[in-house]
Amino acid sequence: MSYVLGIDLGTSSLKGILMDEAGQVICEKSSGYGIDTPANGYSEQRPEYWVVACEDVLTQLSIAVSDFGEKLAGISFSGQMHSLVTLDADFKPAYPAILWNDVRTTKQCEQIMSTFGERLLSITQNIALEGFTLPKILWLQENEPAIWQKVKKIMLPKDYLSFWFTGEICTEYSDAAGTLLLDIQKRAWSDEILNQFAISKDILPKLIPSMDRVGIVKEEICKRYNIKNEVSVFAGGADNACAALASGIADDEIGLVSIGTSGVFSSFEDKVADYQGKLHFFNHVIEDKYYSMGVTLAAGNSLSWFKETFAKGISFEDMLKDVYQIAPGSDGLMFTPYIAGERTPHIDSQVRGSFIGIDTKHTFNHFARAVMEGITFSLKDSQMIMEQAKQKKFKKLISVGGGAKNPDWMQMQADIFDAEMIRLSVEQGPGLGACMIAAMGLGWFETVEDLIKTFVDYKQATFTPNKENVAIYQAVYQKWQQIYQATKDF
Ligand code: XUL
Repeated sequence: MSYVLGIDLGTSSLKGILMDEAGQVICEKSSGYGIDTPANGYSEQRPEYWVVACEDVLTQLSIAVSDFGEKLAGISFSGQMHSLVTLDADFKPAYPAILWNDVRTTKQCEQIMSTFGERLLSITQNIALEGFTLPKILWLQENEPAIWQKVKKIMLPKDYLSFWFTGEICTEYSDAAGTLLLDIQKRAWSDEILNQFAISKDILPKLIPSMDRVGIVKEEICKRYNIKNEVSVFAGGADNACAALASGIADDEIGLVSIGTSGVFSSFEDKVADYQGKLHFFNHVIEDKYYSMGVTLAAGNSLSWFKETFAKGISFEDMLKDVYQIAPGSDGLMFTPYIAGERTPHIDSQVRGSFIGIDTKHTFNHFARAVMEGITFSLKDSQMIMEQAKQKKFKKLISVGGGAKNPDWMQMQADIFDAEMIRLSVEQGPGLGACMIAAMGLGWFETVEDLIKTFVDYKQATFTPNKENVAIYQAVYQKWQQIYQATKDF
């Protein structure tokens, strides 16, 4: 049986999942990297970091799996969204990649919205937010004009890896949608937006569907990892779109909660819906489909920050092993995860997080539980916008990423979202989605439904809401919601 490799280019690490034609995981490896913050609010990575991590993962896989080189048939990607990668005339990075969680572009966002806001919303179905790519381009034009002059191509992070593998430059619709340069219904770069912001079409990559082939892995790379056959590389998708594919959701009754560095609450959309910018709205990796989502900027990031600051050197498992002993609501202690600003529902890059209600009785476990509850409440904010806009209630939610690893957090999610929580057998949703794109690209399946049947598997045990806890959390959530208004001016 042949293998596909799904590469998830995340914010803190690159993860590779190798799967076979029957949808079984053969091996998973990862390699980490840091974020550079040369100034307050800046968040950057050099594209070279991703290549080093990718080479490390390929080395690990080729050592761990004896027939890796014989059986690998296809590769695809899931990538952190929006981050601006620029290349010069020699196809070398012209500037560090400015990441999705960089908030230096507030001024540019305000300019875009005051001069072009309504048109932008009707062409892209999104408003300008610091994390998106267009404001980053305007920041570069304004603050680094000499660098901007040198830029010959721009792309998204995973497209840079695809270029490294094949020498071909292109992107696909799910990531292009997050740039704010795409007419999402026409699935073409918008001339109107490009003209408005003096961006030449020549610097944009060619657009293709997610499951289309970009090219084949270069010979020198094949040699290095003992890859024997021609290996096709497929375009891939935005990490949140890949996670949505991997969750097997193809209707809008079931939602998806994905907790990585950021946290996302998303819903499948059959056709274009107008949320007036209150939620993000992007093209899916499934052709002609869409998804909507709300984003908590620092979800997993809040918990990692808490661990690094107060429990350095111990594992997440150990840190969280006793949180179940604390009652829902953390005995009055509340946390808002706005440690890097916020996106949904509060578009505010300046707000910062807080612990509210600290009492002499509170212990380390109260603080850990309050952080998990605060992250989940923030995702509930997005759930509420979706449910109100569509007049519906999510009965089931699929949880992927860090939030799915811990059973106590799963129960907490069931109680806070008041919905049945389901987990995938493969925890790494985005990477699984990337494998599925490669499998489809290779023609292993005729339809997305067949692909999902073979690759998507749910864990038997689900988590159902405990009615008593649901009631407690509803009361706590009402108080928690007031913290933003009460603290934002600080
Ligand atoms: C989505 C977003 C994040 C990144 C994380 O709009 O900015 O979820 O995709 O990789």
